[in-house]
Amino acid sequence: MEPYGYHAPVLPEETVSLLVTGPGIYIDGTLGGGGHSRLILERLAGSFKEGRSLLIGIDQDSHALEAAAGKLEAFRDMALLVRGNFSTVGEVAQSAQQGQGKGLPVMGILLDLGVSSFQIDTPERGFSYLRNGPLDMRMDPDGPESAADIVNDYDERELARLFRRYGEEPLGGRIARAIVAARSVARIETTGELAAVVRGACPRKDLAVKTLSRIYQALRIEVNDELGVLSRALEEGFSALSPGGRMAVISYHSLEDRIVKRFFASTAAEDWGPKGLGIREPLVKSRAIPVTRKAVQASDGEIERNPRSRSARLRVVQKL
Ligand SMILES: C[S@@+](CC[C@H](N)C(=O)[O-])C[C@H]1O[C@@H](n2cnc3c(N)ncnc32)[C@H](O)[C@@H]1O
Repeated sequence: MEPYGYHAPVLPEETVSLLVTGPGIYIDGTLGGGGHSRLILERLAGSFKEGRSLLIGIDQDSHALEAAAGKLEAFRDMALLVRGNFSTVGEVAQSAQQGQGKGLPVMGILLDLGVSSFQIDTPERGFSYLRNGPLDMRMDPDGPESAADIVNDYDERELARLFRRYGEEPLGGRIARAIVAARSVARIETTGELAAVVRGACPRKDLAVKTLSRIYQALRIEVNDELGVLSRALEEGFSALSPGGRMAVISYHSLEDRIVKRFFASTAAEDWGPKGLGIREPLVKSRAIPVTRKAVQASDGEIERNPRSRSARLRVVQKL
């Protein structure tokens, strides 16, 4: 998978072609290993050198910032790397426009959601049921609550609700009951211990893998408040865009894709009020035009090279 040792960017060509329209500020809210950022910098190399463009990369994981700094070494003067949550993208854009990017329009914001391959593949981060490690799942290693806190402290009803809501797991109630029984004997501290409890509660062992991935997805969403920060970032990021600027979001499961799809549709919608009003202008004007009518998906070739791209859905909107 070299040259992308840390993480291979998903839909690389499609994302950069649809996001980048001209010089200005570009904000990569999910810097990861810097794969997409590097492609944006390469695409507009001339304007970055002339100071007509600036790239800002945000990640809440200090390990990602280190990896990206290495990958973007050649572009050091053209990129600002910031540790933080992308839900503050509006503030980040504003301070860039008052600082190094003074006078530049905000032309693009990218969110490539979820975790990187590096995070998933590092057992100590506790994201995967395939690798034994502490039950952590925090993308920000200094975040307040780990998956172990949730698994051991939420009551049975809260757990069942979480598994149904964020995992869309039909066996949510049953798994919650099994967790409460297991932790009454000893705290559940590792990904391996949780996986054993979930497997034990599945009546059909051949379906246990699907249940495991849904339970782990639900916990990860809760630990990182993934849907809450996504909604905030969409609102804030869209407001921060300059006219003509674009927002591109790559999502990996239906819960986040639904939020993106609805938000983009709401920015493009017009309201003409009740029929027969005879007005010449809509009561509410649309604020954007869709750049992608349908979500863009990875080609068979990309899925073969990078199986992580299988579930990716890219949507792009342009502010009017
Ligand atoms: C799928 S990876 C991005 C990979 C990147 N596009 C690349 O090409 O290398 C997602 C990254 O976003 C970060 N991340 C996820 N949610 C975040 C949030 N709310 N705020 C800041 N960073 C976030 C994760 O820590 C992870 O490093």
